[in-house]
Amino acid sequence: MSRYFAPASTGNLSVGFDLLGAAFEPTDGQALGDELAILGEGDALELSVSGRYVHQLPADLNDNLVAKCFYAFEQAVGRTLPRLRLELVKHLPVGSGLGSSACSIVVALYAFNQHFGRPLSDQVLLQLMAELEGGVSGSVHYDNVAPSFFGGLQLMLQDSPQICRSLPWFDHWRVVLCYPGTVLSTKAARAVLPQQLSLKHSIAFAGMLSRFVSALYSRDEQDALAALQDLVAEPARRSLMPELEPLRAALMAEGVGHVGISGAGPTIFAVCRNEQQAQFAASYLQTQYAKNQDAMTVVCRLAQQGARALQDQDTGLSRCN
Ligand code: HSE
Repeated sequence: MSRYFAPASTGNLSVGFDLLGAAFEPTDGQALGDELAILGEGDALELSVSGRYVHQLPADLNDNLVAKCFYAFEQAVGRTLPRLRLELVKHLPVGSGLGSSACSIVVALYAFNQHFGRPLSDQVLLQLMAELEGGVSGSVHYDNVAPSFFGGLQLMLQDSPQICRSLPWFDHWRVVLCYPGTVLSTKAARAVLPQQLSLKHSIAFAGMLSRFVSALYSRDEQDALAALQDLVAEPARRSLMPELEPLRAALMAEGVGHVGISGAGPTIFAVCRNEQQAQFAASYLQTQYAKNQDAMTVVCRLAQQGARALQDQDTGLSRCN
């Protein structure tokens, strides 16, 4: 048996709509991401599912993304492959803004590619991941699949064969992720987006993203935090998440560096300057924003590692509360 893992991710990071994404992992060592085990080969594709958020998955396993990934992978490889016996552990909530569908797609395609001797290059695999994710979210964008696959903070590179590149980060930053327990589909959150931006607006968007990237390379933390502004998606999505503004105001008044929407929401992320601030933000968000027993609040650091094989001693199965 081989086991594989891919981490959760936050798309956009406020300033880089569809172009910037980061993989995160809890600082307490728990697993925040999906796990897939390949138990062996057989005559038919078999998939069993478990995990904290298994109740959010489709009842028909043929509708599961992992099954869809297998057939898409087989088609990309161009030959009939032996069927696999698979076990998915779903640690991430669906429609949460934590890159849940991307995570299942990344771990599945990564695992299949490893199992069958790496017939696809990383680049072809990444393109396939983005296409499958596009089928779920309604448009092809790489800001969840790229960080979940490669780890770190990834910037998408327009028209470049490389597709994305890793950016520097501030290692002492802690990012609090608070999922309230309610679902917001990415398709629905994309339906409210503006179809066009004015020239002035386009320049402001490009300028803010450039400022953020430049601040990362210059190691200017203050300027990097100041540049975390969403000029594209957040204004349109505010009505879907009325809690965002008051929560942001309260946390930033206490010195938190930034508060924004993780991906298409409803998860909120808070960038904190140190562990103590992160613990405060986590407890505030858990009290003020968690809505039911599906809610989850975690203090994270950037996950430097993306998709990977788990070793026997890895306890990737422990869940986040
Ligand atoms: N960039 C995407 C969005 C992330 O905000 O719609 C979610 O897939």
